[in-house]
Amino acid sequence: MCSLVTRFRSLILHNPISNAAGVFGTHTDELDQMFRTHSGLMVTKSATLGSRVGNKWPAYWENSQISVNSMGLPNNGIEYYVDYIRDLPEGKPCILSIANIDNEQTADILQYINELDYIKYPEINVSCPNIEGKEQLAYDYEGLEYFLTNILDKNYTKPYGLKLPPYFDPVHIDLVSDIIESHPNIVFLTCINSVGNVLHIDIDTESSVIIPKSGLGGLGGDYILPIALSNVYQFKKRLPHIDIIGCGGIRSGEDVFKHILVGATFVQIGTHLNRKGLGSIERIAEELRSIMNKKGYQTLDDFRGHYK
Ligand SMILES: Cc1cc2nc3c(=O)[nH]c(=O)nc-3n(C[C@H](O)[C@H](O)[C@H](O)COP(=O)(O)O)c2cc1C
Repeated sequence: MCSLVTRFRSLILHNPISNAAGVFGTHTDELDQMFRTHSGLMVTKSATLGSRVGNKWPAYWENSQISVNSMGLPNNGIEYYVDYIRDLPEGKPCILSIANIDNEQTADILQYINELDYIKYPEINVSCPNIEGKEQLAYDYEGLEYFLTNILDKNYTKPYGLKLPPYFDPVHIDLVSDIIESHPNIVFLTCINSVGNVLHIDIDTESSVIIPKSGLGGLGGDYILPIALSNVYQFKKRLPHIDIIGCGGIRSGEDVFKHILVGATFVQIGTHLNRKGLGSIERIAEELRSIMNKKGYQTLDDFRGHYK
């Protein structure tokens, strides 16, 4: 029988599957449900310093293939998630996701969590596409470098990761990799956030399926799997010493297998969990096991990064 055990830095995970930030991670009852699932770990909603209500509703839409969202970071504020992680029983690590919508507020968050030894490997979201009038930080290379040097490095001294948006040109992956290499506390990258500012139209209403930003929202689900795989592959090749977390378009064990084949350490699932619920985690893990058994792989390391 093959093993799905995954090592991520100092953590040993019993399988490589997690929710993605923003899905089953906003309220403590959702996090409790995640804790009880078969997942190897879990991630909170991206937190800001204070709570936020988010964008006008409807801000989320899905069909059987994709989701479009412009949630606008509704969350309960950093203390809510930090306290939840502090009180979590042993057995499943929970990664704190932090959104940067304001450098000064993020500096306050980082100073606060720097002292807390139960916060390990926060995921800093530098890629939210749904804040009106605000560019995704990871597309602004000067702004990103400024943020990492003057906000992250000055206020946080432990290892952390970045949640990145999709990049569509290898030159941009090189540029971002150069920036990341000069910040050694970055130990993982989560690729990818939703594909920003897409427009999905309902022909009956002749309008978009969501309201904020004139209907523009982040795309998740099936269509973005090849984009996510390309980003995981390119970043892993460019930065082999860093863990790449695969996120985007996963609905089956086959999809997880592909993410790990191109180098992902573990994976996160958003749209599919929203649509099908948390029971699908166990099914996806079983599908992954069955592919590995068929191919004669005993561990994830037998094929991780072995894309031919
Ligand atoms: C409803 C919803 C809320 C999200 N909120 C966040 C968030 O707070 N922080 C974040 O980094 N990504 C957020 N995302 C993006 C997901 O974490 C994920 O990167 C994206 O949906 C792609 O994965 P998928 O194809 O499995 O959905 C959100 C996605 C959805 C659908």
